[in-house]
Amino acid sequence: MKLQGKVALVTGAGKGLGGTIALAYAREGARLVLCDIDEAALNDSHRQVTEQGADCLALRCDVSDSLAVEAMFAQALQHFGTVDVLVNNAARVPSSPAETQRRNRHYTHATTPVPRRSLGIVSGLSDDDWLKWWDVNMHGVFYCTRAALRCMEPQRSGRIINIASVAGLGAASMHSPGYAATKAGVISLTQTTAYDVAGANILVNAIACGGVHTPPFEAYLAQASEQDKNSLFQMIPMGRLGQPEEYAALALFLAAENHYLVGQVISPNGGYVI
Ligand SMILES: NC(=O)c1ccc[n+]([C@@H]2O[C@H](COP(=O)([O-])OP(=O)(O)OC[C@H]3O[C@@H](n4cnc5c(N)ncnc54)[C@H](O)[C@@H]3O)[C@@H](O)[C@H]2O)c1
Repeated sequence: MKLQGKVALVTGAGKGLGGTIALAYAREGARLVLCDIDEAALNDSHRQVTEQGADCLALRCDVSDSLAVEAMFAQALQHFGTVDVLVNNAARVPSSPAETQRRNRHYTHATTPVPRRSLGIVSGLSDDDWLKWWDVNMHGVFYCTRAALRCMEPQRSGRIINIASVAGLGAASMHSPGYAATKAGVISLTQTTAYDVAGANILVNAIACGGVHTPPFEAYLAQASEQDKNSLFQMIPMGRLGQPEEYAALALFLAAENHYLVGQVISPNGGYVI
């Protein structure tokens, strides 16, 4: 029971990676605050976590709304008295038809000997394609981090795990430049916050995920041609996506252990980015 008695708040916990992390924490004895904007998914996750015997508070909250985040933490404090672990997982992820089409252009370009040319991705972005990522992926992480630190700093302990992406490490997700920029921003916020609070025994680190078998990537694979799928898997030396449980194991380690990691970006990605 690595998290016995600890209170963990997981954003975007209704499904996908956040749901799997919440379940992994519940199995290790944590008390959970589940946050999601999707009420039906939140209820489903709440049922699964309570089936593990965990004390669990499910709160519908849009993390891009600063006041809503403050209210969520106030409710968490009222119920549990503190927050020991924060997982900033909620995000918009690239999944629109235009993003899927750009993704295919990227993968084909990377794996076939076509004549070199511009892919026209940045020059083809609309203002919305650029702006739509920041409210949830960047501002949401900041609002939740600030609120969590106000609980953690007085108690001089805490763990914050930011779910970043290989998209933020380089050009691995060049098909979605706005998404990639927010994930690079999450990495930067991880590093500056980690330095700020490490002296108070609050350890802040990031997981820069490669591809994960969660609803957005499963939707992509369901519509992708065999050629598109081959192009994708050819780019990953392990030849497959990661399972959510493989990422949750790392999120558990970062939350639970008395480790020495401060402001580090750990990237499970099957060799996609080495
Ligand atoms: N799936 C991948 O291949 C992949 C790759 C790299 C990084 N990631 C990162 O992993 C994390 C989880 O992604 P996923 O694949 O599980 O996606 P997902 O869409 O399955 O889950 C994201 C969850 O966040 C919630 N959410 C979205 N906006 C919200 C908001 N404003 N407030 C509160 N909740 C909100 C959604 O309702 C959903 O339940 C994200 O940070 C994503 O960027 C995923």
